[in-house]
Parts: sequence; C-alpha cells; structure tokens
Amino acid sequence: MGHPTNYTTDTLNAYRSKQRAAEYKRYHTKNWNWARFSTWREQRLLARELSRYPWSIGDRLLDIPCGTGILGKLLCSFPFQIVASDISPEMMELARGEYPVDRLLECVQADITATGFQRGSFDCIVVLGFLHRVPLKIKRAALREISTLAKRVVVITCSVDSPLQRLKKTVLAVIRKEHVPAPCPVSLREIVVECEAAGFKVVRSFMVVPFLSSEAMLVLERGNRHQQVKQD
Ligand SMILES: C[S@@+](CC[C@H](N)C(=O)[O-])C[C@H]1O[C@@H](n2cnc3c(N)ncnc32)[C@H](O)[C@@H]1O
Repeated sequence: MGHPTNYTTDTLNAYRSKQRAAEYKRYHTKNWNWARFSTWREQRLLARELSRYPWSIGDRLLDIPCGTGILGKLLCSFPFQIVASDISPEMMELARGEYPVDRLLECVQADITATGFQRGSFDCIVVLGFLHRVPLKIKRAALREISTLAKRVVVITCSVDSPLQRLKKTVLAVIRKEHVPAPCPVSLREIVVECEAAGFKVVRSFMVVPFLSSEAMLVLERGNRHQQVKQD
C-alpha cells in the first residue's frame, strides 16, 4: 500500500535546496517529534549491529545517501575511514561537519544507482531512509549498485507494508491528517527477496520500533560465492 509519489520530484531532486536541507536536519535532530525518536532508535540498533563485527582501523565505510550526516556521531565509536555520498550537495554541505574529522575521507556527490565508486571498495555500506521512498525499479538498481561496491556488510532500512501497518495507517489518517506515510513500502518478504536477488545473504531483519513504526532494518552480507545478479 503506497502513497502516490514521483521519484524525481519527491526524492531525487527533493532535497536539493539549502532550505529543505536545513529543515530536514532540524526536524531529525532538534525538534521533539516522532521522527527524532525513531532516528535515535535506528541509531542504537545500527550501533548494535555494527558492533557484532570485528572492524579494523582502515576499513572503509560508505554512508549513502548520507543526507545531513545523521550517522556522523555514531561513527565516532568505530574505526572506519568514511566516505559520505548523496545526490544533494546541499544535504552534504550540512553533513560534512558531523563526521569525525580525522576519518572522513571525502563527501562525493553520486547517484546511488550508478555511483562511480570502485567495485568491492567498501567493507561496510549503510543505506538509511531511502529504499521505501523509491519505486521497485530504483530499489533494484540501488541494491545492485551497492552489491557491486560491498566487500562484507551492508545495513539498510526500509519501511515495510503489513496488515498491522495498514491498520495503523488507517487510524493515523483519521487522527493525524498531516501524517505522510512512506511512499513505496513493500513487504519484508519482498525486500528480502530483492536483497537476495542482488547477491546478498540476509543475516538479520527486525522492526526498528515494533508496531509503532513501519521501518525495518536488514543486515546483509556479501558471501564468498558470487551469485548471479537478477536483471530487470
Ligand atoms: C530521507 S533522506 C535520508 C538521508 C539519511 N540517510 C538519513 O537517514 O537521514 C533521503 C536522501 O536521499 C538522497 N537521494 C535521493 N535520491 C538519491 C539518489 N538517486 N542517489 C543518492 N542520493 C539520493 C536525498 O538527497 C536525501 O538526502
């Protein structure tokens, strides 16, 4: 169950102004609201998942799309060399100062579906707050691209559709008219299938705030076995 959306205007180009970038950052980091709470919870779970792996100094992490650098503070606790990337220079401008200054290698403007980064050049890739905003064709293209770049671990989030979430949306549509649901959610099963088709092993998946949020987090690993990547 999606919300009518246009990928180009609502996601690809939507964050390409200083004003929108500043509003986004304020909404997720300063205002007291639900988005801030779920971002906090998302970060805690991401830290827990990253902590399961024995990272070494010099391992490379790609934060894409990095937005306004919401991951920056969390990454202080890990030894990664960081590359932050987004299609929006205005978002990246606000992200730059958020990462540990001695470990941010670069901020690179790139489209997640065709980045130009070297294949297999990242030990860890984090993709937050993107996949549920885009149609299936873009989800697939992004997952394929990430799969070519990843050496070991990828963590993604995606809002998922389920009977429980539909019930919640119906209630919210009545009591909170300003609520805008995720435009392109798919079921957890569907996103797992897409990740596997892109060559990943899905090692863990769970809801970020069960029932109250539709956001799921999935931890993916690149196996040694090279799998055939599904084409559109
Ligand atoms: C909802 S924000 C999420 C940002 C960040 N990951 C977070 O959790 O705060 C979506 C971001 O995706 C970026 N974006 C949209 N389309 C993109 C694309 N094709 N390639 C790379 N970034 C894109 C936008 O500029 C925006 O910064």
